[in-house]
Amino acid sequence: MRKSSNIQFIDLTLTKPSKKRTLDGISNLINKKNFIGGQEVERFQKNFQDFNDSKYCLGVGNGTDAIEIALESLGLPKKSEIIVPNFTFLSPAEAVIRGGYKLVLADIDLKDFNVSIESIKSLISKKTSAIIIVHLFGNPCNMSEILKLTKKYNIKLIEDCSQAHGAEFKGKKVGNFGDIGTFSFYPTKNLGAFGDSGAIVTNKKNLYEKAKKIANHGRIDTYDHILAGRNSRIDSIQAFVLNEKIKSLNKNNQLRIKQAKLFLKKIKAEKIRLIELNSNQHSVFHQFPILLEKRNLLAQHLKNLGINTGVYYPKPLSKMSAFKNLVSTNKIHSENSEFAAKNILSIPIGPHLSIKDSEYISNAIQSFEN
Ligand SMILES: Cc1ncc(COP(=O)(O)O)c(C=O)c1O
Repeated sequence: MRKSSNIQFIDLTLTKPSKKRTLDGISNLINKKNFIGGQEVERFQKNFQDFNDSKYCLGVGNGTDAIEIALESLGLPKKSEIIVPNFTFLSPAEAVIRGGYKLVLADIDLKDFNVSIESIKSLISKKTSAIIIVHLFGNPCNMSEILKLTKKYNIKLIEDCSQAHGAEFKGKKVGNFGDIGTFSFYPTKNLGAFGDSGAIVTNKKNLYEKAKKIANHGRIDTYDHILAGRNSRIDSIQAFVLNEKIKSLNKNNQLRIKQAKLFLKKIKAEKIRLIELNSNQHSVFHQFPILLEKRNLLAQHLKNLGINTGVYYPKPLSKMSAFKNLVSTNKIHSENSEFAAKNILSIPIGPHLSIKDSEYISNAIQSFEN
């Protein structure tokens, strides 16, 4: 065991060469007075659509807007029911409520923290118009089973890929299974900007065209607006940063995978439950969560050894004040979501760490158990 360490949960410090390249690039955009739209945005949309093997990509303001715009583009009947996982960052649920639909919360599977297929099955009704799945922590959902359901019941599918840039199910990139895939480039994501930004991907031209209009004031030409849209655009500076950072996304994802494999091999404690992925699920390990009853004690033990951890998420959506008035009226499944919220602990993973750091983290976890 090392004598002293300071392992951050997240560390966004730039290397010197990368900081210089970024500052030079931003300075160049300022000199050109290129702030909204333009070449960098076009280049990023092309880069990301190629990265994701998608036909279309539209840069938007952030990952939450991406879901709201995706929902609006689908033109679903107002007040229809939309199924969302109960254990996730809250954006999909916010988008459902803000769009005027009825929120239905499905439970999760503790193997990968993704939405439970059984729960979805029992929540689908004649009023269900769509499902928003989340590929949580970088783990792709079981798309074979989900597509069986969306086809059988003729319901739309949005994939929230905000934590899963590059994840694949059966060799196909997430975001390409449903009608629309949405991404966040919040700074801490596997692909993160230096501020807010997000994207929509789709393989359907009509949905791309609709989303593009909604995100840019319904504009088809200068001062020619054909619908009441909104302003949700990626700006040139964020697009430039993302164009730089996308170059190392595959390499960084590979490092995350190596770190996660080491954790899966080395952490062998009876009281700790690790994620269980099958061979179809190619995760990009945005986070590495573990489940255990004594999470606060382990967090403190790791802190004493210089390792910082995080709890994502301490509450299921059904326990949040934002949604509490829905509990008596809406269909909600919550057993595993509540269990996860109580027992989950995320240990550090990511390109700011070396394999040696991951070894140190697994040894530190083993020393807690022994
Ligand atoms: C699963 C998920 N969905 C949506 C979002 C929202 O993204 P943004 O913060 O860019 O609006 C996030 C970001 O934290 C997320 O993790």
